[in-house]
Amino acid sequence: MSSDTNDYIKFESTNIRIDDILKCSFSSWCDLFKDYLYPYRIIKPLPTSFIEYLLSDGIKLNSDQQKLEQTSDNEYSDWEEEEEPNEDSGPVHSKFPELHEQIISDIKELGGKVIPKLNWSSPKDANWLLPGNTINCTDINDIYLLLKSSDHVVDDLLYPFSEVEEKEVTTKVEHELILKKWIDINPALEFRVFVKDSKLLGVSQRDLNHYEFLKDLQPQLQEKIEPFIAQAIEKLQKTDLNSFIIDIYIPRPFSKIYVIDINPFSRKSDSLLFTWNELLTKKFEQYEFRLINETNVGAFAKKQYSESQVPIDVVGATHDSEALIELAREWDKLQKNEDQDTSN
Ligand SMILES: Nc1ncnc2c1ncn2[C@@H]1O[C@H](COP(=O)(O)OP(=O)(O)OP(=O)(O)O)[C@@H](O)[C@H]1O
Ligand SMILES: [Mg+2]
Repeated sequence: MSSDTNDYIKFESTNIRIDDILKCSFSSWCDLFKDYLYPYRIIKPLPTSFIEYLLSDGIKLNSDQQKLEQTSDNEYSDWEEEEEPNEDSGPVHSKFPELHEQIISDIKELGGKVIPKLNWSSPKDANWLLPGNTINCTDINDIYLLLKSSDHVVDDLLYPFSEVEEKEVTTKVEHELILKKWIDINPALEFRVFVKDSKLLGVSQRDLNHYEFLKDLQPQLQEKIEPFIAQAIEKLQKTDLNSFIIDIYIPRPFSKIYVIDINPFSRKSDSLLFTWNELLTKKFEQYEFRLINETNVGAFAKKQYSESQVPIDVVGATHDSEALIELAREWDKLQKNEDQDTSN
């Protein structure tokens, strides 16, 4: 193929800066939107021992579960012949007891059910681990399990600036754990709003299912969203954040807008019913409001969370017997809990 053919699209950079990413960290923007947030708690700074625990291999949780051991003939037994002293034995939280207590008390104060996230990301790619495929947690072990199993969480911890083109990245992130009170959200009424250089480019449905009723609601929703976003742009402009993606929720009767999250204007954020190329190159005369309709429903059906459809742990476990035992053990435990729950 000759090099002067024009049948490719240039990969446009978002030109995101470290500073933009830091400004999208939950604790950096939450005060600006405090009247529009559901209750939450921020735990910051996080002890190094907790970060190390999150990044360590294997899933060791807090209860006194038996350890599965591999016997010589490659079968697994749940008892050990000899107790060997192990510096890792003891409850998981012995290395971060204060944080552990803080999380327990925050869960209680927030009504007993929370969604955890770090500076930018929730562990929604690990939702398959909890019964019902949710990330709402009632027990501290749920939080540990989700955070430890999520690639999005690892990304927050290790690679938050991987999209940045600045050469020397020496910025140290102050890691934070956010606990958000769980709210029974109607996913049809969540929207993702794209703002570039302080200009509203587009609004997309967040949940990529077809909701027939949204079409008729569109004018009413736009009437609410437009002034709210104008105000958000103004607030964030004052902090020198001019490009961002804001997730909002507008429950019935559409009198109030809630902010769910503010995300970096980066390819790591899902562009949903837009493409990143459009967001970076298209001249939007007027912003576009995009919904799933009868004709595009099939096209987007596979997009949602597509990056997480095969959990990396499962792929890894097929090559790693220890990881496989851990997964089997966790799965067994979850099933038992679910059985207990349903028999109550
Ligand atoms: N307080 C809450 N109660 C119930 N559900 C919530 C709450 N906050 C968020 N959610 C649900 O979880 C989803 C993910 O939450 P959030 O946007 O905070 O995670 P995220 O990791 O930043 O997602 P993304 O990677 O798409 O930016 C939301 O779309 C919403 O449906
Ligand atoms: Mg987000």
